Amino acid sequence: MAAGLGTRLRPITSLRPKPTLSVANRPLIYFAVDNLVEAGITEIGVVVSYVTADYLKDILSNYPGVTFEYILQAPPLGLAHAVQVSREFLADDPFVMYLSDNIFENGISSFVDAFEPEKGINAVLALVPVEDPRALGVAVVEDGRIGCLVEKPEVPPSNLAVAGVYVFDPSIHQMIEGLEPGAKGEYQITDAIQRLIEHGYHVAPVQVTGWWKDTGKPEDILDANRLQLLKLRRSISGKTEHTELVGEVVIERGATVRNTTIFGPALIGEGATVENAYIGPFTTIGNKVTVRNAELEYSVVGASSSIEGIRSRIQGSLIGEEVLIKGHGGRPSAHQLTIGDKSVIMLQET
Ligand code: G1P
Repeated sequence: MAAGLGTRLRPITSLRPKPTLSVANRPLIYFAVDNLVEAGITEIGVVVSYVTADYLKDILSNYPGVTFEYILQAPPLGLAHAVQVSREFLADDPFVMYLSDNIFENGISSFVDAFEPEKGINAVLALVPVEDPRALGVAVVEDGRIGCLVEKPEVPPSNLAVAGVYVFDPSIHQMIEGLEPGAKGEYQITDAIQRLIEHGYHVAPVQVTGWWKDTGKPEDILDANRLQLLKLRRSISGKTEHTELVGEVVIERGATVRNTTIFGPALIGEGATVENAYIGPFTTIGNKVTVRNAELEYSVVGASSSIEGIRSRIQGSLIGEEVLIKGHGGRPSAHQLTIGDKSVIMLQET
């Protein structure tokens, strides 16, 4: 599922869709495809909207070894609607529905394996206990089955959130027929699954193991980046001069790092230039980025951006592609900003 507009990530998603944003220098949707392929699913239909189609086609054309079919959902009217427009592609086969902004540490094989039609199971949902599930689908489990399901409830009936991967047999299609739209006028998959339950179908829960991330907001992208960087093992393919590297640091080919201290885990992308800088833990520097006379920590910098001459440390920051952040350090001591709609800038005044 890759038709959504990612409104909570604007302005980053004003120019391109959420599944094409990178963590650890890989587009989010690659992690979804990795998980599908690893679970043995290789016929992949990508549901796109007019707004997201070209970006997705472009990014996925570089994913090795998989041919994708693109399904247009125009306009995007919710996840149940997305299944409806995919009907021809899906035919009467069982299928996995994967929300492309979800990342699972341990993949999705456990959910796919739990789908056992011979045991009368019609659908499988992945559940995660979370502190506050009010922004998610919430499930109640009774006698080892899902007993009821609600979308983004104000008063959650349990702490079990529905993660973004679902396995269905074709009975879901009849439930989607005649569904009433829910919040924001969207046809919600949660409502269709609730109908399955009400019609006596067996919807089985499987608990997610390891971490799970729904990357809806900027802080989620930073956290997903942190979790991916924890897997790094030191590898230095680029050039380093007068540089101190501590812990798991990856410097990709064509990158140059001079007079710099890097505390890992940190990733410096291909062709990047880092000079007179400090790069702190959980930072990804995109391909062809320049960082000069600046300090960065717990941040993601998109490709071809440039950060130069900044005296105070930049941290907890999500920076898009081709962004220019430049300080002059002299007089007058004024900020000069050109900033797109819905940006968030926090300036530390001293
Ligand atoms: C969607 C589903 C929700 C689920 C969530 C998981 O919500 O509607 O039930 O818990 O994905 O990521 P969205 O994130 O699209 O608002």
